[in-house]
Formats: sequence, structure tokens, C-alpha cells
Amino acid sequence: MSRPVDLANDIGEVLLTEEQIAARVAELGRKISADYAGKNLTLVSVLKGSLPFMADLMRQIALPLRIDLMEVSSYGGTATESSGLVRIIKDLSASISGEDVLLVEDIIDTGLTLNYLVRYLRGKNPASLKICTLLDKPARRLVEIPVDYQGFEIPDQFVVGYGLDYSERYRNLRFVGVLRPEVYSSLG
Ligand code: IMP
Ligand code: MG
Repeated sequence: MSRPVDLANDIGEVLLTEEQIAARVAELGRKISADYAGKNLTLVSVLKGSLPFMADLMRQIALPLRIDLMEVSSYGGTATESSGLVRIIKDLSASISGEDVLLVEDIIDTGLTLNYLVRYLRGKNPASLKICTLLDKPARRLVEIPVDYQGFEIPDQFVVGYGLDYSERYRNLRFVGVLRPEVYSSLG
């Protein structure tokens, strides 16, 4: 049985408020601005979940930069578990050879998606490649990922909002929260 999405009432707990996210994104932007001064910075973000983070982060970086967008989907998994089998739906638009690439992600969970992407991007000969993730769930990591910039470490809970989805919904929430348990069993 499917039930309608109720943005206002489907969230059980707010994990990160809009204000907490904005403050942390500003800090990350300052750090990245200091670290990448004089470099050829290209931000590569991974659609769709990283869209709000990318949009906010790039405006907190006081340096000339380029952006590029990829979209991947993992297949063979479920709505809350990724499988590590990654398909590129949208590739880079321009060469990143010689660029200092910062990969901007919404969340690292098992690390399987990012592990694939890092290997893919390294093959394109960037001058450097680092990782910036808003959320990190280290409890579920299956492969080691060097995280250079991390917004928040969160517990092993499935979260939605600020770009993150459950079955493609809830991405437009301004905060990060946990869905009420009954939503998982009833939305499909
Ligand atoms: P990984 O390959 O297991 O690291 O998963 C990465 C992708 O799974 C993320 O880019 C998200 O699209 C999705 N994902 C993992 N955990 C969550 C979550 O708690 N909420 C929403 N999406 C998630
Ligand atoms: Mg997703």
C-alpha cells in the first residue's frame, strides 16, 4: 500500500538544522579557500543528492573555480542500501586533466560509490583529487576512503533532506532528519 508523502509530518527527528548546516558549510568553504589558493580548483559533484550542498559550498569558496556534475546510480540495491555496482548516467562535461579536483558528495555510507568514482576520476589525470562530504557514516564503511573535508559524522541511521532522498522524495527539506519508521514500510 502506498501512502502520500507528508513533508511536514514524516520526519521523526531533526538531526541537523538549517542553521547548523549553513554554519558548517561556511567553515568548510573557508578551509577550502585557504587550502586551494593559487590552484586550479574544479568542484565535481555527484547528482542528485549533492545538489544543495554543492550550491551552498561553492558560494562559500572565495576563489576562482570551475564546477562539473556527474550523475551515477547504483543498481542491484534497495532504497536504503547501495550495492556498489555503479552506472554512470551523466559523465563529466570537460577534461579534468591537470585540475585540482575536489569531489563533493552528500554522504559516504559504505563507501562503495565513492570508491568507484575515485578510481574513475584518477584515470582522468587530475593534478590532485580530494574528497569533501557533508555527511559521513563511518560505522557502515566497507572500503577505506580518505575523507579530506567532512561536514558532520552521523550515526548509522538513514537520513533524508538537504538533497538526500528516500525513494526520490524529501530532497527539498531544508534540514537533515530521520524518517518515522512507519514511512519506510508504507512508501514504495
Ligand atoms: P555508499 O555507496 O554506500 O557510500 O552510498 C552512497 C550513496 O547512497 C549516497 O550518495 C546516497 O545517494 C545513498 N545514501 C547512503 N546513505 C544514505 C542515507 O542515509 N540517506 C539517503 N541516501 C543515502
Ligand atoms: Mg539516493
